[in-house]
Amino acid sequence: MWWSNAARRWPAALGLFAVATASVGETATVPDTGRQTQLRHLLLQDCGSCHGMTLRGGLGPALTPEALAEKPAEYLYLTIREGHPGTPMPPWQGILADEEIRWLVEQLHNGVRAP
Ligand code: HEC
Repeated sequence: MWWSNAARRWPAALGLFAVATASVGETATVPDTGRQTQLRHLLLQDCGSCHGMTLRGGLGPALTPEALAEKPAEYLYLTIREGHPGTPMPPWQGILADEEIRWLVEQLHNGVRAP
C-alpha cells in the first residue's frame, strides 16, 4: 500500500530535518559565563573522577589537548553525548545540552582552565 510505504519513510525524513535544524542552532549558542564556570567544574570533578582530577587519565584515558589532538571534535562530541556502550564511559545527553557538549569539546581541545 502506498501509504504504509510513505509512513515508513516519514520518521527518517523527520530525523534528517531535526539534525539539520539542530546543527544550525548549535553554532550560534555558547553557554553563558556562569554556566561555563559550572561546566569547567563538572569537567574537572565529574569527568575527573574517572579521567583523573587533572584529566591526565585514570579509569578513563587522558583528556589533555595532547592526548586528544588527533581525535576529531565530532568523535569527542558523540563520545560525550552517547557514551561508549559496554565501557564505564556514560552518556551525558539529558544532563548536558548539545551546545554545552560542543563547548566542552572545545575546552578539551584547548586545555581546561580551573574554574
Ligand atoms: C564512570 C567513569 C567515567 C566518567 C564519569 C566519564 N568518563 Fe569518559 N571515559 C571513561 C572510560 C572508561 C572511557 C574509555 C572508553 C572506551 O574504552 O572506549 C572514556 C572515554 C572518554 C572519551 C574518549 C577518549 C578517547 O581518547 O577516545 C572522552 C572524550 C571522554 N571519555 C570524555 C568524558 C567527559 C567529557 C566526561 C564528563 C562529562 C566523562 N568522559 C566522564 C569513563 C568515564
